[in-house]
Amino acid sequence: MNSFLTLEDKLALPFISQKRMGELQARIPQVHQALHEGTGPGNEYLGWLDLPENTSESLLQEILNHAKKVREQCDHFILLGIGGSYLGARSAIEIQQGLFMPNSHSLPQIDYAGHHLSAPALSQVLSQLDKHSIVLNVVSKSGTTLETSIAFQLLHDYMKKRYSPKELQQRIIVTTDPVKGSLRQLAKSSNYTTYPVPANIGGRYSVLSPVGLFPMAVMGFDIHNLLEGARQAQKDFSTPDNLASRYALLRNALDSSVIRIEALSTFEPSLHYLAEWWKQLFGESEGKEHKGFFPVSLAYTTDLHSLGQYLQDGQRQILETFLSIQQLSPPYAQLTHPQNGQSIEALNHIALQSTLQAHSEGQIPCLHLKLSEINPFTLGYLYYFFQKACAYSAYLLGVNPFDQPGVECYKKYMSR
Ligand code: PA5
Repeated sequence: MNSFLTLEDKLALPFISQKRMGELQARIPQVHQALHEGTGPGNEYLGWLDLPENTSESLLQEILNHAKKVREQCDHFILLGIGGSYLGARSAIEIQQGLFMPNSHSLPQIDYAGHHLSAPALSQVLSQLDKHSIVLNVVSKSGTTLETSIAFQLLHDYMKKRYSPKELQQRIIVTTDPVKGSLRQLAKSSNYTTYPVPANIGGRYSVLSPVGLFPMAVMGFDIHNLLEGARQAQKDFSTPDNLASRYALLRNALDSSVIRIEALSTFEPSLHYLAEWWKQLFGESEGKEHKGFFPVSLAYTTDLHSLGQYLQDGQRQILETFLSIQQLSPPYAQLTHPQNGQSIEALNHIALQSTLQAHSEGQIPCLHLKLSEINPFTLGYLYYFFQKACAYSAYLLGVNPFDQPGVECYKKYMSR
């Protein structure tokens, strides 16, 4: 059994009926089988399940060699995408920058676009371009997502004015559907380098595909170890009784007519985009047919001074899932309080324990996911864990984890 990730449930169990737990537990083998035999809803999008094992060394080498060339060629790398097309990469890059590889002087700066329709924010991205040497990676499986399309058109126009068609072939990288869509056509006609978003993988399950791997590699992220961690998780969760199915079971066992919200609570600011990725994964996968927890995230200790009051004393409708890192890497572990010499990391752990105790005394069911340390390997493990837990959980809930009809609805009105 792994020791990278563990799940403590003792502060949630008192809120769960044994009967409900037993009923759900009995369904886990079927749900596992439906996923692995591809007999459940959305079964055309199960490519992520074996992706860690199926990713070849030659693809990783191709990505790493290409990423190295990109780093030599630019000092400003722009990632365009929205939702599942950018949150995975952004979460890994921000975690690396904040938690285990702060000295990134030799790396390009990274900027993000295509995830909003804000004229000021787009102008800010455009205003940075002249003083830098630019490479951009546009990621859109459909190729038609409005936010990403508009940002790409603006940046593409700029790039066409600044660089020759030959140079653009090195500076514009398109990650899209392997065969269809307008981006694929453009890449073909302009001879841009491309990566495929595998046809059988949806955006929010794509972090371990070239969607996430290429931008991470450009930013110096160790994608080999990321994949190693995910492979370990794939192996650990290959039989029904595992940590991912346990998390899915526990959250489904909490009475959803009372508990309607799941908060992912973290104690490191650099985990902000991981929480954004988690929210998108669970929100888009489970929020269907008037079902599913509303996923939110809490950034402690900051939010203890704003939302902490609500958590402690407001309506009792929240499941709180704490995600903690048991041990930080050495430079951070050494930071101490100037007067009493106490480690700041230890203080943060005391804050975590105190919050867990206070909130559970305040009648909030609390789950605690403990990651032993944070590095590419454990992060790969964690991504796979959440993806698999989410798929199990949606099947237990009785919804298709791999479609997003509600998002299509807004897109329809928007393009009209
Ligand atoms: O998970 C999903 O499928 C979505 O969040 C998509 O990733 C997002 O809507 C972007 O879609 P596309 O890659 O087609 O631009």
